Amino acid sequence: MALSSLKFFSILQFLIIAFSMLSTRLNADDPPLTLDYYASSCPFVFDIVRRVMECEVLSDPRNAALVVRLHMHDCFVQGCDGSVLMDDTVTLKGEKKASQNLQSLKGFRTIDRIKSMVESECPGIVSCADIVTIAARDAVMLVGGPYWDVPVGRKDARTASLELANANLPAADEGLPSIVSKFLYQGLSVTDMVALSGAHTIGMARCQNFRSRIYGDFESTSDRSPMSEIYLSRLRSTCPAAPGSGDNNVSALDYVTPNLFDNSYYQILMTGDGLLNSDQELYSSIFGVETKQLVQCYAVDPLEFFKQFADSMVKMGNITNADSFATGEVRRNCRFVNSLIRSE
Ligand code: HEM
Ligand SMILES: *[C@@H]1O[C@H](CO)[C@@H](O)[C@H](O)[C@H]1NC(C)=O
Ligand SMILES: *[C@@H]1O[C@H](CO)[C@@H](O)[C@H](O)[C@H]1NC(C)=O
Repeated sequence: MALSSLKFFSILQFLIIAFSMLSTRLNADDPPLTLDYYASSCPFVFDIVRRVMECEVLSDPRNAALVVRLHMHDCFVQGCDGSVLMDDTVTLKGEKKASQNLQSLKGFRTIDRIKSMVESECPGIVSCADIVTIAARDAVMLVGGPYWDVPVGRKDARTASLELANANLPAADEGLPSIVSKFLYQGLSVTDMVALSGAHTIGMARCQNFRSRIYGDFESTSDRSPMSEIYLSRLRSTCPAAPGSGDNNVSALDYVTPNLFDNSYYQILMTGDGLLNSDQELYSSIFGVETKQLVQCYAVDPLEFFKQFADSMVKMGNITNADSFATGEVRRNCRFVNSLIRSE
């Protein structure tokens, strides 16, 4: 009797642990997100976010790209829980120094601005994770992309993970199979990956991230789809060969329409002019039979791209941090947990 209840207990414990490990990344259940979560507690939150994003994008269209990337880098690390926004403190190591974020991830001030407007209207109600998610949708729409409804109700984590940020975020010099596995790990499909990569139709990349591509270290990819000479020489004038020189010089990910959310990114890949090696691999990798077909599809069918992008953004936004629903909070300041903020 004692033995069997012990056994039962340990099986239960195992199941609880296994389930909580699974649910933090796979969201097997529908996450408890709804469209009307703030309908009575903060009815104008969507308007407030929109208004600030309009100003931000008007003052610099790059701000749209920054916020979209910020959302992705939030969701890929312990779910969309605002963890990416947290500053380092003596007790918390944030994600901002992760290899893919350091000197690269921006847009934090835009989120601060939105947050303070939202706080003045409905203090303590709207999570930073939701603000980033809504702002990313507005960003896409404001530069010509699709519109979709944003499920909300996320909580902000009280922790961040530099380790997971280093492990989970895809990099420009990574091969296609490895990038695919990082998306699958998040519960996102190959189709989601190719559609979401279409976010590279806006924004910039730093020299450091495309240097090896333009100076021929990716022989195989470059051989199969050589970049046009004109584009190559333009990139080389922005990005010198010697590591350390001009590392932070930027170039548009989509040189045709850098500030417009359209499908030209995919058309560019078909000409071999993808800026990042990881972009070009979607079309040119020997492992990319399926991804190549998707690139071809989105290159000729902008509406199919928009539809899939919107669906995949909702799916990425659904990667929830189960722990944050139990132990999370609505941060007053997106950079710090509430217990650190003394002035009340
Ligand atoms: C498929 C794997 C991906 C890889 C390997 C990747 C990698 C990168 C890299 C290296 C940069 C340039 C960063 C810099 O030089 O500072 C970048 C920029 C960007 N990424 Fe991705 N990314 C991927 C997927 C995504 C996804 C899924 C989204 C959003 C849905 C996204 C949105 C962006 C945006 C908007 C920018 C431009 C940011 C700016 O202007 O600063 N990326 N990405
Ligand atoms: C950075 O790019 C500009 C042109 O976009 C170029 O004039 C400058 O020389 C580059 N910086 C370095 C260190 O090469
Ligand atoms: C995302 O979550 C919402 C709310 O739980 C759900 O209604 C929707 O079907 C999910 N969408 C996707 C694409 O996973």
